[in-house]
Amino acid sequence: MSGAAGGRLVRLAETGRAPVRFLLDGVERVALAGDTVLTAILTNAPTLRQAEFGPERRAGFCLMGACQDCWIWQEQGARIRACSTPVAEGMRLLTRTREDWP
Ligand code: FES
Repeated sequence: MSGAAGGRLVRLAETGRAPVRFLLDGVERVALAGDTVLTAILTNAPTLRQAEFGPERRAGFCLMGACQDCWIWQEQGARIRACSTPVAEGMRLLTRTREDWP
């Protein structure tokens, strides 16, 4: 079974897919091949990201690429839509923008 204790999503099926390791805020996490970034994060954490304009935490909304609620950041700087981006081995993801970015 994939997913750490405290994940918002609980994986009930397709648990035999190959593991994919990625970093979330510097901590190694494990998803399964074929997961979106949103699924990868929410099987490991209670929320997806920090809201840009307030203290709230976000977890996506439409899950189909329409609402813009699932933008997260890569350490290299690029922002990605978590619900429509496949997770990949070695991804380095951030749940909030870096303090030193303009
Ligand atoms: S959850 Fe709506 S665009 Fe990703």
